[in-house]
Amino acid sequence: MYLGLDLGTSGLRGLLIDADQNVVASAEATYEVSHPHSGWSEQDPEDWIAALDAVMATLKSANRSALASLNGIGVSGHMHGATCLGADGHVLRPCILWNDTRSHVEAAVLDQLENTRELSGNIVFPGFTAPKLAWMATHEPQVFAQIDKVLLPKDYLNFILTGDAVGDMSDSAGTAWLDTGKREWSETLLSAGQMAASNMPRLVEGSQKAGTLKPELAAKWGVPDTCVIAGGAGDNAAAACGVGAMVEGDGFVSLGTSGVLLSAKDSYSPQPASAVHTFCHAVPNRWYQMGVILAATDSLNWLSGITGKTPAELTSELGDALTTPTDVMFAPYLSGERTPHNDSAIRGAFTGLSVSTSRSDMTQAVLQGVCFALRDSLEALKSTGTNMTSALAIGGGTGSTLWVEMLATVLDLPLEIPAEGEFGAALGAARLALTASTGSDPMSIMTKPDIARTIQPNTDHKAAYDAAYERYTQLYPTLKALT
Ligand code: XUL
Repeated sequence: MYLGLDLGTSGLRGLLIDADQNVVASAEATYEVSHPHSGWSEQDPEDWIAALDAVMATLKSANRSALASLNGIGVSGHMHGATCLGADGHVLRPCILWNDTRSHVEAAVLDQLENTRELSGNIVFPGFTAPKLAWMATHEPQVFAQIDKVLLPKDYLNFILTGDAVGDMSDSAGTAWLDTGKREWSETLLSAGQMAASNMPRLVEGSQKAGTLKPELAAKWGVPDTCVIAGGAGDNAAAACGVGAMVEGDGFVSLGTSGVLLSAKDSYSPQPASAVHTFCHAVPNRWYQMGVILAATDSLNWLSGITGKTPAELTSELGDALTTPTDVMFAPYLSGERTPHNDSAIRGAFTGLSVSTSRSDMTQAVLQGVCFALRDSLEALKSTGTNMTSALAIGGGTGSTLWVEMLATVLDLPLEIPAEGEFGAALGAARLALTASTGSDPMSIMTKPDIARTIQPNTDHKAAYDAAYERYTQLYPTLKALT
């Protein structure tokens, strides 16, 4: 038995699989994100531990014998968060999350240093870990002075599970402290960020063993104390493992809280100026590139909160058939934007509202705006020489077939919908547990899911969506002029 734990932005999910990757059980527990100030986004790591306890208790209650033969655990988690620990291992302050943009000034300073982009392969985005620590050095010097280790969210869970500070390459590539080509901490990048190698966890590949489960947790959960903990992965690399996006040409688009367009890479070829992210994959000697938009389903959730209708109620008001685009435009920059703008100050907007604009026009505008933002990411990926000819579509937003068809049309890409079953980051994490415990070749484990159906671009509406996209591209400079 193998367990994947996915520490998501809104909850922790546990997925238990057997050696043939059949799903045995799953359990979930949720937690909140707090936004103490505009642009801030934090979580209390205590809440992750409470969720872990709840998930393990649920799994144990119905699957005691499966847990008794658990060979390995792999953890996936939301990337970039700074979990700061004091010398005795206690958490010093709430974790500052991936979509927190308070450290934009520090990010710009680090980004402009010589060698930064060359070594890390990426722009230093405000959401990355290094600028968060630079912000703390200035604004919370008493806390900063006590820091012994800085751990990414899933590495904090690795620490809870093993008692050891150990991280993996895929997640660490999002810190701006890793030499992403060499897959090791960069002394140059660390010292630019007032950090040292001793503040970092030991590194292993995601598919390798990081340690073994602490005896007291093994006893509490009824798990063998030989249970291996894998290096694990950042959630996007874990999702790529879950859908078998491992070699050049494989890719996916994810409509999750954030929106991601990811393409696997056989070699390391960063192009930071494009605002595309280039990170290590969770298996040795592989990388991936992706465009990231900060608010995908988050945009629809926001409209849901404003209108008092659930996201499903909002999308159902649009019917099933794709229609021509609405003239109402929506820029989904609710938390600023990464690809292609690298702009934490920009904010969202509706344009083209009239007295006859309805709620459903606004919903359609939101769905369109997210599709257009992902088209921006596709154009950025194209500019780096990455050519996608199709992609899997994953994430909560794919529950709306209309949204997926709109996205296929806007991206001009056939989008493959996986058949019912598991294929997300939790499965990727469970697969990493399997490879770390058995030493199997990761490529034989990280296979593609069955495809339920492929959604083709809608040729009747393609020209109209292309024209609407051209208009959308003018929104950013216009909004920029207003900020
Ligand atoms: C990737 C990113 C997000 C988070 C949350 O760079 O910031 O996708 O990993 O899912």
